[in-house]
Amino acid sequence: MLKAFAALVLSVGLTGPAFAQYVDPAVTGAAQTDSATGAGSVPTMGDRATTGGAATLDDILRRQNGAPVDDSARRESTGFDSDIPASGVLGPSGVASDSDQWRALRYDRADVTSVNNGPAATTLIQDGGMTWLEARRGPLAFWGGVILLGSLALLAVFYIFRGKMRMDHPPTGRRVERFKAIERFGHWLLATSFIVLGVTGLLSLFGRKVFIPIFGHESFAAVASASKWVHDNISWAFMIALVMIFVMWVMNNIPDRTDLKWLARGGGMFGGGHPPAKKFNAGQKLIFWAVIVFGLTISLSGLSLLFPFQLNLFAKTFGIINDIGVLSWVGLSPLPTDLAPQEEMALAQIWHAAMALILTAIIFFHIYLGTVGMEGAFDAMGRGDVDEEWAHEHHNLWLEQVRQTQPEKISERRI
Ligand code: HEM
Repeated sequence: MLKAFAALVLSVGLTGPAFAQYVDPAVTGAAQTDSATGAGSVPTMGDRATTGGAATLDDILRRQNGAPVDDSARRESTGFDSDIPASGVLGPSGVASDSDQWRALRYDRADVTSVNNGPAATTLIQDGGMTWLEARRGPLAFWGGVILLGSLALLAVFYIFRGKMRMDHPPTGRRVERFKAIERFGHWLLATSFIVLGVTGLLSLFGRKVFIPIFGHESFAAVASASKWVHDNISWAFMIALVMIFVMWVMNNIPDRTDLKWLARGGGMFGGGHPPAKKFNAGQKLIFWAVIVFGLTISLSGLSLLFPFQLNLFAKTFGIINDIGVLSWVGLSPLPTDLAPQEEMALAQIWHAAMALILTAIIFFHIYLGTVGMEGAFDAMGRGDVDEEWAHEHHNLWLEQVRQTQPEKISERRI
């Protein structure tokens, strides 16, 4: 009898703590969220009153599902932010308890002194690394591959059905100067540096997956370090060329009414014939602005990677986006503005690669049109002049202007 009673007391005693873990949202007033999917609003600090600010079951389930968790209660009460230790228990240092100290380290709030004076040296713990690694080898690599191979496939299909766009009439043999030597230099500096950066960038993103199984670890190590050196140094040529083409061509790329008409006719795909165009048509202006905008953001994030921890872009940018309130318009929660230096680098790397992959896909279309896609186009950048007939068909308003203002640019030079 005594044994049975002892067993009953023991089992009730052991199940007690298990019940204590369970927090009934209806009782505590916690936000009603679907823990399995992570859907619903992020519960607020007040919901954790019953756990003294520690993680709740709902937090743990949300974290397991990759849903956002409001850990501000733990983040803010580390014992390092006030004279009174958060838990009220003194630790070995006499300031805060051990758990307070570990929490302060965990949230980068501890007053750390290090021998190394590097900007990230005092951040001893940050937990963004795994998220970065998974994003890099998961969605970034997958969608990067999809957009690159997808755009190449689209171009192949277009070429098979449409073929090369030929001139409507035979060439006249009279040549019109289209780009000066300095313009061609700027373009080819941009193009060659972009291609080298693209190849070396792809090597660092996909090299481990593609290269190692074929050539082994040692060869890849040599290729990867050479590739990184080339990538880092050629980036300067790209940035210089970007500034050059911006300065030289921005005036010719300001959108105007001709562009609307050009776009309405799909650049000549509807309505027959060639829509009127100035020096650059609307399609080329889109390419120009894509190169400038993507090129700029790729360059900035690249500089932030080139000089680690010196140029932190994301916390500031997220703060501006949060202040404007853009995300709340579409029901999204604000972006994090409290980023560890390593998280800044991780975001810079993902952003840099994603923007570069999108620009590469756009440039595939440009290279297609400048080479196999359109008869006579390559000459413009290859030798600097085009046939008068080509100029008349593709850029009639520009040709008219050249005839009136700079007739010396038209010569009888035969091919
Ligand atoms: C093998 C590669 C490339 C070829 C054959 C090529 C060819 C050309 C040609 C023929 C033009 C002049 C078009 C015209 O006369 O209207 C041009 C213009 C231009 N190229 Fe390239 N290009 C290449 C790579 C690149 C790259 C990698 C970039 C930028 C990252 C670039 C950016 C531009 C820009 C901004 C223009 C002026 C706007 C336009 O015509 O679209 N090009 N290119």
